[in-house]
Formats: sequence, structure tokens, C-alpha cells
Amino acid sequence: MRDINLRGRDFLTLKDFTSEEIMYLINYAKDLKIKKKKGIRVDKYKGQNIALIFEKTSTRTRCSFEVAAHDLGIGTTYLDPKGSQIGKKESIADTARVLAGMFEGIEYRGFGQEIVEDLAKYSKVPVWNGLTNEYHPTQMIADMLTIIEEFGKLKGLKFVYMGDARYNMGNSLMIACAKLGLDFVACTNAKYFPNDELVNICKEYAKESGGSVTLTEDVDAATKDADVIYTDVWVSMGEPDAVWEERINDLKPYQVNSKCMDNAKDTAIFMHCLPAYHDLNTGVGKEINEKFGLTEMEVTNEVFESEKSRVFEEAENRMHSIKAIIAATLTPTED
Ligand code: CP
Ligand code: NVA
Repeated sequence: MRDINLRGRDFLTLKDFTSEEIMYLINYAKDLKIKKKKGIRVDKYKGQNIALIFEKTSTRTRCSFEVAAHDLGIGTTYLDPKGSQIGKKESIADTARVLAGMFEGIEYRGFGQEIVEDLAKYSKVPVWNGLTNEYHPTQMIADMLTIIEEFGKLKGLKFVYMGDARYNMGNSLMIACAKLGLDFVACTNAKYFPNDELVNICKEYAKESGGSVTLTEDVDAATKDADVIYTDVWVSMGEPDAVWEERINDLKPYQVNSKCMDNAKDTAIFMHCLPAYHDLNTGVGKEINEKFGLTEMEVTNEVFESEKSRVFEEAENRMHSIKAIIAATLTPTED
């Protein structure tokens, strides 16, 4: 493998990265995870600082950036959804130039992909996409690491994504799978297939990697012999409450339940980026239960809590993979 150097690069979508570069980040995350478990210090970035902009809420991504930065010796400044001037009193272009003068890197979580692209365009320091409506690339490194930990490989695995496949998670997983040689299946109501343009791009990636991209409404055919069954919430952050009823009606047949898992391989695992609506222990879960009578949504509690579920391993891997992304794109203060 040729030498890979990602210093100074933005991390906005996996479309911008070769499969070798993506594998490099996954392997780097694996290495950093081992070091963390052994207590080996990796704080080679002392004296550096990064800005964490969150225009949408977060548990995993925010904590991962903060812990990862701390372990690397980097200071963090968190800008919450209301606590900055971004977009309201100050343009993205101006914000980017202000922050680039103070920080070595900028994380952005928010709405349209064009915002994070703009931030990167006007900032001279690396910008990391912590989730937009269209993509969630840092999650991909964690998810692929989790799959490798389970199966020891990626190529040739049947990866089935059920539910809302036209949003950040469906899009990003299709790109990651297509680039890395998995057989990606989006199994959902056709209204929720990823857009044609991205599907065609991913089919080209799959030709090179030996993977494939399939879109189907047929749950039995999709889940048959699957290695990984993945889902995400039916209504994402930033979408209006008014869409819930239609989403439930459209996506209920694509709930991940024991029947789907039983139809998959014996060795199959369940994954979810989280947070998940699998019981009534959340505010939204309760509200939906009162309005529509559902006790669980995109995944049943039985599957979520089952021995096939890898959701918490996956969540932990967010930290190791975000650490790898930061470490790979910034330049160490000391070697
Ligand atoms: N999976 C994920 O991005 O979680 P958070 O929204 O909690 O960051
Ligand atoms: N699709 C979800 C992912 C959360 C990590 C959302 O955008 O809310």
C-alpha cells in the first residue's frame, strides 16, 4: 500500500476519499483503540485547539471529539446550537476565517452539506463533518471498524440498511459499503431510496471494489443471508414533527425485528448509529406512543437488547475513530 498522508485534509464526505485512505483511517482507529486500552499515551498534539460547532444536538459525536482531543493533548471549545453567531449574525465565510485564526481544526454538525463545504472552503484549517442532513462520515469509520472486529473483513459481506435510506445514514453507509467492497442493500419503501445520482456514483465505486448496490422493497429477499442489518431513526434531527405519521405508515414494514434477524445468517449482527427508539424510555418515544400507539419504532426492543446487537461497541468506536480522523488530518506538535 502506498504511503498515505491526510495532513491538512478536510473530512466532509467519504466520496472525497479513496478506499485505501478509508482503510488507513479504520486501521489507525484500531491502533488507537489498542493504545487506549493499554494506557499508552498519544498526546502528540499538545498546545493545539479545535472548535466544535453543534447546530444540532449530540451525545456520541460531541463526547467523542472532546475525549479524543483530550487524549491527543488538544484543547476544545464547544459552540452549542444557540451559543454562536453562525449563520444568524455572521456568515459562514466570516466564521470560517475567524475560527481558522484561533484553532487548528473545526468540527461542524448542522443542516445542509453546503454549509460544511463552505466552512471548509473559507477555512485554512481542516474541517470535519460531524453530521449534516446528507452525510455522517465520522460514523462510517466507527461502523466499518465494528464490522471488521466482528467478521475480520469487509469485502463480500451482505450489509442491509432498513428504513429511511435517503438521509445522512443511508447515503453514507451506501458510499462506505460501495467503496469498501460490501454488498449494500437498501431495503425500504421506494420513496426512501437514496437519490439516483448518488446511487449511480456508488454503483461505479462498487464496480471497482467488487461490491454491489441493490435497492429493494422486499424484506424477505433483502434480509436473507444478511451479515449486518442496520437501521436509523425514521425522522431525523431538523425534520418537522408533521412528517411522523407518514413515516410510520411508510416505514413500519421495514422495522428491524426478530423475523428479519432470523432470516439473516446465524452469525448476523444488528447495528444502529443511535440514538434509537426501541422502547418508551424517551420523551419522543412516549409522545409517539400516545399519538400513534407504537411501543417501539425502527427496531424492536428484543433485537436491540439481543446478543446480536453491537450498538454499544459501535458507539465506543466513535471515539477511537474520531481520534484517528483528528490525528491523521492535523500535524503533531511533537513526534
Ligand atoms: N450517532 C451519533 O452521531 O450520535 P449523536 O447524535 O449522539 O452524536
Ligand atoms: N439520521 C439521524 C442520525 C443521528 C446520528 C439524524 O440525522 O438525526
